[in-house]
Amino acid sequence: MQTRLEAPATEPLSFEDTGVTVSGVARRFAAADRARGPVLALNDVSLSAHRGEVLGVLGPSGCGKSTLLELVAGLQEPDAGRVAVCGRASGAERLAACAYMPQRDLLLPWRDAIGNAALALECAGVRPRQARRRARPLFERFGLADFERSMPGELSGGMRQRVAFLRTLLAGRPALLLDEPFASLDSLTRAAMQEWLAGALATEPRTVLFVTHDVEEALFLADRVAVMSPRPGRVVAEIPVPLQRPRPRRETVTDPTFIELKEQALRALEC
Ligand SMILES: Nc1ncnc2c1ncn2[C@@H]1O[C@H](COP(=O)(O)OP(=O)(O)OP(=O)(O)O)[C@@H](O)[C@H]1O
Ligand SMILES: [Mg+2]
Repeated sequence: MQTRLEAPATEPLSFEDTGVTVSGVARRFAAADRARGPVLALNDVSLSAHRGEVLGVLGPSGCGKSTLLELVAGLQEPDAGRVAVCGRASGAERLAACAYMPQRDLLLPWRDAIGNAALALECAGVRPRQARRRARPLFERFGLADFERSMPGELSGGMRQRVAFLRTLLAGRPALLLDEPFASLDSLTRAAMQEWLAGALATEPRTVLFVTHDVEEALFLADRVAVMSPRPGRVVAEIPVPLQRPRPRRETVTDPTFIELKEQALRALEC
């Protein structure tokens, strides 16, 4: 009888296929004063987001979520373990592969909305006029067409977050790192912004690491959710979300699968 060699069920990921890989990472900070010891923020953290995947990172305050994003973005280096983006492991290469939206929107108050969004292109050497020209279609596409010339102080919190997100998108990097982008918004604006972001990621697919405290937000937006323990943060559960994106809110939040996943995530957070 002829013996057939079975092909492996899945091909091993090549570096090019890999979005973000974090493997066995630890990060320790020196104490602010001598009386206290160093702070171990992250310990043995491993997670990955495949190309085009939205990975939600959920965890309690202080568990090291922002530190994790800064490590991925190449703004910090791990004390142990390895971080790679698109297979590139050096800090400079990670910096070049990631667009990072920090916890605060950090719009420049002296630039109008489109000038703020175009900043990422200008930093990459595009002339200001050309950068604004390239930003304009995104303002139209994502519901900000009438606010291009508004100054940040004239925009609502949700609009500021959208401008900051467009700036992140315009950086044109393969990986987007979003640190609690809606934390400062009221619940109605937050829900509207979640839908806006889900739509934006459907038209502009990217590999995304999305940090939040909010279980529903993570499950509504992500393909998979990594749940972190309290400090020192490590990944205690990974929860795939088998629902197609973008998700209609009302049907999604009442879907039995969604409700079960929410309970699973809450249980993992309690560990
Ligand atoms: N530069 C630093 N120097 C010293 N300690 C730091 C530094 N950055 C972060 N830490 C500490 O590391 C831990 C993790 O901080 P981090 O900001 O990453 O948490 P987080 O999960 O993002 O918190 P939050 O949900 O409140 O934003 C905290 O205890 C914090 O005080
Ligand atoms: Mg944080």
